[in-house]
Amino acid sequence: MVSGRPGWPRKGLIDALAVQGPMRICVIGAGYVGLATGVMFAKLGNDVVCADIDEGRVKSVRSGKLPFHEPELERELKKAVSRKKLTATTDTVSAAKSSQAIFICVQTPSMASGRIALGPVRSACRSVAKALKSSKDRKLVVMKSTVVPSTTDSMAKPLMERLSGKSCGKDFGLCMNPEFLQEGSALKDSMTPSRIVIGADDKKSGDELARLYKRIRAPVVRTDIRSAEMIKYASNVFLATKITYSNEIANICARLGIDSGPVLEAAGMDPRIGPLFLKPGLGFGGSCLPKDVKALKDKASGVGYRPRLLSALLETNERQPLEAVRLLENSIGPLRGKKIAVLGLAFKGGVDDIRETRAVPLITALLANGARVVAFDPMAMPNFIRVMPTVEYAESASAALKGADGCVIQADWPEFRGLGRREYSAMRHPVVVDGRRCLDPRKVKAEGAVYLGVGYGLAGR
Ligand code: NAD
Ligand code: UGA
Repeated sequence: MVSGRPGWPRKGLIDALAVQGPMRICVIGAGYVGLATGVMFAKLGNDVVCADIDEGRVKSVRSGKLPFHEPELERELKKAVSRKKLTATTDTVSAAKSSQAIFICVQTPSMASGRIALGPVRSACRSVAKALKSSKDRKLVVMKSTVVPSTTDSMAKPLMERLSGKSCGKDFGLCMNPEFLQEGSALKDSMTPSRIVIGADDKKSGDELARLYKRIRAPVVRTDIRSAEMIKYASNVFLATKITYSNEIANICARLGIDSGPVLEAAGMDPRIGPLFLKPGLGFGGSCLPKDVKALKDKASGVGYRPRLLSALLETNERQPLEAVRLLENSIGPLRGKKIAVLGLAFKGGVDDIRETRAVPLITALLANGARVVAFDPMAMPNFIRVMPTVEYAESASAALKGADGCVIQADWPEFRGLGRREYSAMRHPVVVDGRRCLDPRKVKAEGAVYLGVGYGLAGR
């Protein structure tokens, strides 16, 4: 696998990296991050093995199919599999053992306290340690999972050293390399990142990882391991803050009869504020923003600091789906006995991921107010049915709207923009609450429905 120049000693990673030949890379965790990372490194010419404990996922990856909806990534996965540049296995230890660089990309979900559950990371580290123990070559281990500062050097490193009997820095390299991709554009974001953060406590490990990324054109930030861990939280907390700021401004605008659209657009023209992530809606969901805010809050509390901003973000975000309930009630009165269609169940349009989707608190609030809910999502319905099995589901957006007293757009799927007079006229009360400001209010009105959007104020009605 390692194409050494004639006469070069082939002592392992350093030599392999020095000659820039294809590397054998193991990615542990075949989820969004693991598969985007794996496909990216395969596209760069490396030989990638994805290891996952989930047999179904491994089978799916081997046949070039993603276990989630991410069309561009799936196209490139198919190519990598057919060119034999990427394979998958459930045998994590062998996969790690046969590789020169190992990326840990397993999930780090929230526990009830907000702290992240480190079970999957620990288990991945144990597999890596077994591989290190029985290997003669130096390997580079890279933590890509989002973990709170000190996890990599205080938990992962000693665990791998103890179980392998090897010494970090000398026998194996260790880096922390946070991932910044967005679902829906996972591969594009991996191939053209805004920055590559390389956290290492020794120069050699950092250099090894930097060489792996050499063909990706992006600014490289070199830090120690803990700073790299913190950069990920600082980034996601800022995104959550921007969204929450927009929601707060939008809620105030709505009550003052002002459309928050031009207000936020003009605010975003100040380069110190910036135009992105200023779209008001029903709050931020997804597998990471809520989890990461909670995890940093928990970590800060653990070191004796009370993070008031983080608490406010979570509290405001919890309340935000109620804006849709308020708009509905203002228009059609008490919701008891009313049929409400909820369109879009994923945490955002374009994905089938329902982790921390705002559809759950929204539907819970509608049901608590006595409404009858009929839900639809173009891709996420099978996942959503598992968490809310008792809600009624429709086969299409138009079927959900039939006889409804109102509808809420919860996720910005482009197809909802195509709804028109035919669908709205089948509603009992054609009232559309645009929870993601993704419809054109004039078009909805022209098609015969009442338009109510988050942050619109009276003028938007
Ligand atoms: P995911 O849940 O989609 O995938 C994780 C995979 O790891 C699963 O397939 C699971 O079966 C596998 N796994 C768990 N334990 C394992 C083990 N011991 N050995 C082998 N496989 C194992 O997770 P994800 O969304 O890709 O997130 C991974 C990490 O990256 C998280 O820390 C997350 O916060 C972070 N992150 C996620 C995104 C995103 O958009 N999803 C973006 C940036 C960072
Ligand atoms: C987010 C970050 O954008 C990524 O940079 C990060 O790598 C990732 O989390 C992670 O760490 O997992 P993602 O979870 O794919 O990516 O979702 P976003 O596109 O950020 O959207 C998150 C939520 O915020 C969605 O519910 C979305 O509807 C909402 N949102 C987003 C708004 O309400 N307004 C906006 O302007 C933007």
